[in-house]
Amino acid sequence: MQLEERNDEDVLRDSEMRYRRLFEAAQDGILILDAVTGTIADANPFIIELLGFSHEQLVNKKLWEIGAFLDFFANLEKFEELRDRGYVRYEGLPLVAADGRKLFVEFVSNAYTVNDCRVIQCNIRDNTARRQAELEKEALAVTLREKNREMEGFLYITTHDLRSPLVNIQGFSRNLGKDLKRLQELMAHAVLPKAAKGEALKLMSESVPEALGFITGSVLRMDQLITALLKISRLGRLEITARPVDMNAVLKNVLETFAYRLEKTGVEVKVESLPPCSADAGILTQFFMNIIDNCLKYRDRGRKLEITVKGKITDAHSVIYTVSDNGLGIKAADLEKIWEVFYSVQAPGEAADKGEGIGLTITKRLVERSGGRIWVESKEGAGADFFIELPAPV
Ligand SMILES: Nc1ncnc2c1ncn2[C@@H]1O[C@H](COP(=O)(O)OP(=O)(O)O)[C@@H](O)[C@H]1O
Ligand SMILES: [Mg+2]
Repeated sequence: MQLEERNDEDVLRDSEMRYRRLFEAAQDGILILDAVTGTIADANPFIIELLGFSHEQLVNKKLWEIGAFLDFFANLEKFEELRDRGYVRYEGLPLVAADGRKLFVEFVSNAYTVNDCRVIQCNIRDNTARRQAELEKEALAVTLREKNREMEGFLYITTHDLRSPLVNIQGFSRNLGKDLKRLQELMAHAVLPKAAKGEALKLMSESVPEALGFITGSVLRMDQLITALLKISRLGRLEITARPVDMNAVLKNVLETFAYRLEKTGVEVKVESLPPCSADAGILTQFFMNIIDNCLKYRDRGRKLEITVKGKITDAHSVIYTVSDNGLGIKAADLEKIWEVFYSVQAPGEAADKGEGIGLTITKRLVERSGGRIWVESKEGAGADFFIELPAPV
């Protein structure tokens, strides 16, 4: 056979050819450097394409003579690191292409010996798109935080300033009420044509008091809304100190606060043994109170309310607590809206006690500020499961 006739030289050439092909077809940039001088001995087509320098512009040049690497390898120190450490990896190393484009690459170098010569092989992977997306994301997160702070400040100022005219409306409405009474007394003794007197008395006893009633009612509602907004605007300035929290103690505390309502309503509360999390105990109490309050308010009056609280540790070093009830449940169309400020669906039988619709808005903000997340799963008529994920204690 022909193969057997091949000599060592042929085999060697074949093998060399195979490695050459690998080098040329690689979808990563590869540079081979002389470890002693830092001169580029070879550059594969991928790196030539990526950087836009020709083979001649790269080969026989020192790494730091190439514009692309100038920023990073400006001093010998970095090259010596490649030479001396044997294996070096940089993530997000900045390079400049021949046409001035900025690139971010993953740069891995290996130093080894070939025929008594030390060489450094550098593998260069283009991560520009990923790095740019990361940078954009970071910038967006910063903008978002700033905007949020700005909005909270704005909310605080406007709500604060809205209060004073409201106090005026409240005060002057009261004065009007008093004046009206006095007018009624005076009118009783006034001498007027009968029809005119009748109409005046009717105005004073019916339509003016009714209008005043609407004004005071609206002022009261506006005051509640402003109080709610002030509460929300304060969340941003809230100091949060995360510590390991004994959740069993927190829940016991919360349930004690509700003891009267729970007993009056005849609720069955099942609490499993809860793992600890890392959060602010005061804040945890606040949002579990909001959630239990909702369970009570949005219960189905046709059946005994059952609330179950569970907790489990996840693989991602977090804890997920679940509060489940068998109440009214939430319509699919409302599942997103319940987190919005002032969104409240009136519970049947709670007419006098219509919620402000900020409980869940505040809860969500508090959970997020504690480094966690909250979500709900529910079907109308079939109860709701609220999930709260928080960091586990370290
Ligand atoms: N456990 C629950 N079961 C059914 N619906 C709920 C539950 N918790 C919250 N909701 C719905 O989410 C809305 C928003 O809740 P929240 O922000 O606490 O406001 P509020 O309690 O003042 O209405 C409620 O009006 C209700 O429609
Ligand atoms: Mg509520």
